[in-house]
Amino acid sequence: MPPTSPTPVLIVDDEADLRNLLVEALSDQGYEAEGAESGEAALAKIRQRHFPVVLTDLNMPGGLSGLDLVQAIRQEDPKAFPILITGYATTESAILALKSGAYDFITKPFKFAEVEASLTRALDHYRTRRENEAYQQNLEAMVEARTEEILGLKDEIERLFEGFVQASVTAIEARDPSTSGHSARVAELTVGLAEAVNHTPNGAYGHVHMGEQQLRELRYASLLHDFGKVGVREQVLVKAKKLEEGRLEQIFQRQHQRSLEALVGELRGAWAKGLPYDPAFIEQLLLSHQQESEVLMEMLARSNEPSVLAREVASELDRVAGLAFDHWTGVRRPLVDAPDLELLRIPKGSLSAEEREEVQSHVTHTFRFLSKIPWTRELADVPEIAYAHHERLNGRGYPRGLQSTEIPVQSKMMAIADVFDALAAKDRPYKSAVPVDKALLILEEEARINLLDANLLQIFIEAKVFERTMARIF
Ligand SMILES: [Fe+2]
Ligand SMILES: [Fe+2]
Repeated sequence: MPPTSPTPVLIVDDEADLRNLLVEALSDQGYEAEGAESGEAALAKIRQRHFPVVLTDLNMPGGLSGLDLVQAIRQEDPKAFPILITGYATTESAILALKSGAYDFITKPFKFAEVEASLTRALDHYRTRRENEAYQQNLEAMVEARTEEILGLKDEIERLFEGFVQASVTAIEARDPSTSGHSARVAELTVGLAEAVNHTPNGAYGHVHMGEQQLRELRYASLLHDFGKVGVREQVLVKAKKLEEGRLEQIFQRQHQRSLEALVGELRGAWAKGLPYDPAFIEQLLLSHQQESEVLMEMLARSNEPSVLAREVASELDRVAGLAFDHWTGVRRPLVDAPDLELLRIPKGSLSAEEREEVQSHVTHTFRFLSKIPWTRELADVPEIAYAHHERLNGRGYPRGLQSTEIPVQSKMMAIADVFDALAAKDRPYKSAVPVDKALLILEEEARINLLDANLLQIFIEAKVFERTMARIF
């Protein structure tokens, strides 16, 4: 069937009669047929425009033969389909024609219908091939577009997640402003230590090398390691002294009341004995009660501090346990209530055993929270790494008391960063900042008694990883 838009066809033959005959006949059939009298003339035309089919005579004396032309067409315009017209039909010539790249061959003398049939077959094949190419190109474009879309989505998800992590960090720090910046600094120090380990080819961690994804995983674990603090009561979390705020003031007020009670009793006694009104005597009594109160209050204020409780203060507290005052209801009550006295007796720090346990539970809260997130494969260890940040090499860490071999190396790195920041940062309520050299000495001591990893600490110190956050701490 003739094509709807004229298809260019080139007829190459040195015999003008045959050539013109074919050009005319094909033009009548609706093709845009052109003739060329030699292989060279044909090539010149092929270089100018694309002919889907080129019909060429095999024997063209002087110049390119039909076979040469077929081969040249393959170079110049590989999409074209050459058809050879041979003067004699032998199997050899047929094989040669096809081998040289001809699509088909026609033997002379031929009927026009044969030419037409071969041409139609060649064009059908030509069109199928073009359609396949178009389909292929379309498919490639589609794949490219989809890939771009997926990469865009991946980017979006990563940005979304980064935002979520930052928002979580904000939530922790809003809960405990005194540790503001801690998460970010621990992330910076932990990743800094991991990078320093990457650059250390020898030693106990010479074989450890973390790729970009692992560093990312470590960064997220570090940023979120204390997230569980949102599950700890605020008054415990930010507790700077042993007693709740206002409590000590209340005790001081009670002591004032006790002094007045004693004064009233002493004055009653004096008047009962018939002693006269003596302002100097009253002044002296007042002064002595004032002094007694001051000593007691100073001792109570001292025992309210989170520092180590001195032995003499502890025995003073035993004495306080026996002191009482008259409540306005007329009931005799202890000067310091038993739970408060218990808190004042805390030997070190500001937290009672239960409160300490509650603070320590932040690790389990962190793990539960992080375990609910459907992490991607590359970030799958974030919950486990964060879960072990308070575990210690000697098995005395919390919450699980893991042995050294059970603690992920990432958590061992984080533990060093965490302790360093806790010591060196100025913003903890229960202690003032420790100078860097002293903080490093404390870390070394902790490594010596098998709490922190000594090899990692050595890298932390030698590579000066701790300097990474110094500008933000001091
Ligand atoms: Fe922690
Ligand atoms: Fe921490």
